[in-house]
Amino acid sequence: MSKLLEIKNLSVDFNVRDTKFRAVDTISLSLDKNETMALVGESGSGKSVTAMSILQLLPDLKASYGTDSSIFFDGIDILNASKKQLRSIRGNQISMIFQEPMTSLNPVFTCGDQVMEAIILHQKLNKKEAEQEAKSLMELVEIPDVNRRFNAYPHELSGGQRQRIMIAMALVNKPKLLIADEPTTALDVTIQAQILHLMLVSKKRNV
Ligand SMILES: Nc1ncnc2c1ncn2[C@@H]1O[C@H](COP(=O)(O)OP(=O)(O)O)[C@@H](O)[C@H]1O
Ligand SMILES: [Mg+2]
Repeated sequence: MSKLLEIKNLSVDFNVRDTKFRAVDTISLSLDKNETMALVGESGSGKSVTAMSILQLLPDLKASYGTDSSIFFDGIDILNASKKQLRSIRGNQISMIFQEPMTSLNPVFTCGDQVMEAIILHQKLNKKEAEQEAKSLMELVEIPDVNRRFNAYPHELSGGQRQRIMIAMALVNKPKLLIADEPTTALDVTIQAQILHLMLVSKKRNV
């Protein structure tokens, strides 16, 4: 059976002021459905660039890939995929959560509205149904007192709760792959453990 994700000889070069430098140097990895993998490495070793390559989020003009590099996701040749294919993969089949949830959440909309918007964007639900679904996702990620937090703005939540909101949004479409780029770095140690636990629980629900 083929793997969910198969990265072979991935090299990424950045063109900075007419000089190329290599950010990722021939890495290969593969991931089966339901498998969890952690990429470990010092700061600047290319973890984020690897993650962004999978979603093709690196700036086209600046980043180039090695000639024998390939990334296959669920049989799709990511490095040669069309914009349309990539759009349908991003957020639908692959979701990503980042280190600092405050920069990914919009400060002027309530948390509930943002989870709902993610739902409405991808599913044909009316507002009331989307609200129900948003609340049940917020319960899944163990946000306490969901009815109140639904109407709270991001700055009114703790860092751990904001990261839970991000996870809820990432799970809206039951993605086949969830990429988390240092999702707990900004949080204190006990909250870090809770968030990692939550991601494992969410994975089981997503199966
Ligand atoms: N958009 C970019 N333009 C130029 N260089 C970048 C860009 N993004 C990352 N880099 C460089 O690529 C290297 C790997 O970075 P990164 O993947 O962010 O490391 P990590 O996530 O492991 O800390 C670093 O030297 C970083 O400065
Ligand atoms: Mg990084």
